[in-house]
Amino acid sequence: MYQDPIMCQSAEKVAAARAENVKLDPRRMTAEEKDQLLKTYHPDYREEKFEVLKAGPNRGEKVPTELARLLQAHSRITADQIDLTKPDYTCDVLVIGGGGAGTSAAIEAHAAGAKVMVVTKLRMGDANTMMAEGGIQAADKPNDSPAQHFLDAYGGGHFAAQKDLLCKLVSDAPEAIRWLSDLGVEFDKAPDGTMITTHGGGTSRKRMHAAKDYSGAEIMRTLRDEVLNRQIPVVDFTAAIELVLDENGRCCGAVLLNMETKELKLALAKTVILATGGAGRLHYQGFPTSNHYGATADGLVLAYRAGAKLLYPDTLQYHPTGAAFPAQIFGALVTEKVRSLGAMLINAKGEAFMNPLETRDVSAASIIRECSDRGNGVKTPAGYAVWLDTPMIEIKNGEGTIAKRIPAMLRMFGKYGIDIRKEPILVYPTLHYQNGGIKITVDGQSQVENLFVAGEAVGGIHGRNRLMGNSLLDIIVFGRNAGRNAAAKSRSVTPAAPTLAHIAAFDKSLADAGIETDAVSPQLLPDYARRENVLKG
Ligand code: FUM
Repeated sequence: MYQDPIMCQSAEKVAAARAENVKLDPRRMTAEEKDQLLKTYHPDYREEKFEVLKAGPNRGEKVPTELARLLQAHSRITADQIDLTKPDYTCDVLVIGGGGAGTSAAIEAHAAGAKVMVVTKLRMGDANTMMAEGGIQAADKPNDSPAQHFLDAYGGGHFAAQKDLLCKLVSDAPEAIRWLSDLGVEFDKAPDGTMITTHGGGTSRKRMHAAKDYSGAEIMRTLRDEVLNRQIPVVDFTAAIELVLDENGRCCGAVLLNMETKELKLALAKTVILATGGAGRLHYQGFPTSNHYGATADGLVLAYRAGAKLLYPDTLQYHPTGAAFPAQIFGALVTEKVRSLGAMLINAKGEAFMNPLETRDVSAASIIRECSDRGNGVKTPAGYAVWLDTPMIEIKNGEGTIAKRIPAMLRMFGKYGIDIRKEPILVYPTLHYQNGGIKITVDGQSQVENLFVAGEAVGGIHGRNRLMGNSLLDIIVFGRNAGRNAAAKSRSVTPAAPTLAHIAAFDKSLADAGIETDAVSPQLLPDYARRENVLKG
């Protein structure tokens, strides 16, 4: 129940218009309208929020200012702090990151016979995978095909995806679903046993497979069980803070930091897989985030300092529907599945102002426009928001649909006295995903030999905007791919002597570029003492 009089009045307008709104199917925007909208309202186009890099493999390219500070920072260590002749751990394949991509990689590398070890900054499963809600795409129905999936994702990503990576993503998708299902993921099924699939923004076919609205938690539960069943060693609360290269410039391990004791450890390996996830906790442009606590771009920093190029690091995904009220869940994900099931975006006047299944960048920009220049936002304690008219779901699909298909949403808002079956909810874009990341080839390898990358740390699979459900898919497809290829490569690799010479070399490149900074990276944890994040008053 909303208490604030302005919210109440606006919610009443939404309720009064519902019977008419529910019949509408607002037209899709034209390509020209979308371009104009994005340029004017999408945060990626706020030039003043970006900085051009002066050092490193992406010199001359722009990235968010918060990321530039970390990419052009000093290491947390100096080379003389580490005795490279005395490793604490040795293995064939070192996996850095314990989310969906890291665990998928570890499982496949282990299945291929490699001696694998996982290190993770927090605990296995403390990752964006765990927080993914809406589902995972795969073209496995008779009316669909990987080619159709490719076209949707390629267009949705503004024709910028690396075609070979995207081709692999969509081609391996049906097998990824089978693999997960065989491991024990309980996907939603019809009484006859067929998978229930729905639309997401920008999909031309219903190909979103889900486990209610906690698809990521269900997938992570299963992957974690498999890692434990295989007895793959996992070292938790241990962050990678520097990669180790051999004298030939090939990756052969990492320096680790025990997050509790602050001890430094050394892991040497034949191949390394970076699966450190995203950057939401850097709160680009002051946005709230749907991301988990450890999402601080660590992998990008480590790979960049070691010489790996990033692709599209200037493009971020703001999920259109972050919770905007109440404050306790500010920025939390309201899954796109809510719109897939029929809820529409409605402004303060009760008007359906856009088609709810436009792609994410277009939807986010459209909401920002409604709340800014058009003056049609609902005032909230944190700013402005629009309504997501959840009661429409039950009108369109029948009573009980919300409890059955999106129970986590029902519970999340229910805790604060908002019954989403009867009342709409307030939403505003939240920082959700880094579209860009480390450039890889189709075997999963970065520009640093023997350094493989998987998951959100990769750039280029989705181009400049990702469709819903293609991230859970990419962590599985490219996690497994990296695991297999890193294991295969490890059989033929004999690393030369390990070195940390790249630390001094990178410092020199900073000095040569005239960069004076006291920043050290990777950041590891969010910096909630930053001035711009401290609430005033
Ligand atoms: O809206 C969602 O459930 C998010 C899905 C995704 O980012 O793929």
